[in-house]
Amino acid sequence: MGFVEDELKQLKDVISNLDSRIKRLEQSTSGAPSSANKDLRMILIGPPGAGKGTQAPKIKERFSCCHLATGDMLRSQVAKKTPLGREAKKIMDAGGLVSDDIVIGMIREELDNNKECRGGFILDGFPRTVPQAEGLDAMLRERKRELQHAVELQIDDSLLVARITGRLIHPASGRTYHSTFNPPKDYMKDDVTGEPLIQRSDDNADALKKRLATYHKQTAPVVDYYRKTGIWSGLDASQEPGQVWKNMLNVLEDKKSGHAAGLLSRITGSN
Ligand code: AP5
Repeated sequence: MGFVEDELKQLKDVISNLDSRIKRLEQSTSGAPSSANKDLRMILIGPPGAGKGTQAPKIKERFSCCHLATGDMLRSQVAKKTPLGREAKKIMDAGGLVSDDIVIGMIREELDNNKECRGGFILDGFPRTVPQAEGLDAMLRERKRELQHAVELQIDDSLLVARITGRLIHPASGRTYHSTFNPPKDYMKDDVTGEPLIQRSDDNADALKKRLATYHKQTAPVVDYYRKTGIWSGLDASQEPGQVWKNMLNVLEDKKSGHAAGLLSRITGSN
């Protein structure tokens, strides 16, 4: 992408971010539920390795809500060797997507029965197709619990190989480390429990290539779907995790987005 196209895309993102904020402020002044409410309802969108699983536990802790990651739910089925798990493993290792009906059903089940979700929810890795987004919206409308935020973690594909191939996971807690960027205190051991860390079977360069192709083809349209609704915000996910977290809070707590404001002042020359 050339410099002008890049600036244009960034400017469009700034405008879209501002538009989202205006709509949210209008909602809060008209007495409609605002994102300042404790009941946080959001989705996290981004390519593999963007940092969804890194940021989501922090959001969960801050806002006391549930964190539903369809990838984790599917991996739990794989670990239990259920019929769904056996089928899902083949699809996941090949970098494809499990059927829409199955993942929509898994989310519905959690939203209706998981007590933690009464205080709000973060959906991580869902929806991943436009039919999933439409299914989710219909489900939430019925329950009068519409989404407040669709946060996209934006990052160039070239930065993701190192993140994915170095990722280490503590399966029981979902805690994530990185062999270089965030190493555990002891080699291949979880900092909290001392239990062994593992690498995911789809965390290799070949599978990543396919997962990225699937993301651009099937999940990028989901970003466009939410951009039109006024709840979308884009964050620069190439920054270090602490900075991404700060910008995330700015969005979720409805403060001025540092990234958007920074870009805006750069483009308009204002302070
Ligand atoms: P899923 O488990 O959702 O995987 P994914 O989307 O590919 O995302 P990842 O978990 O790989 O990345 P992440 O963004 O969470 O990155 P993380 O924070 O760990 O899905 C797996 C599969 O399940 C799919 O391919 C599909 O087959 C199936 N599936 C799941 N949901 C589905 C659905 N809805 N429909 C159909 N199929 C579905 O970070 C990665 C690494 O980078 C870590 O080591 C971390 O420490 C490091 N890191 C994070 N942030 C930073 C930073 N800012 N700077 C430096 N390093 C960082």
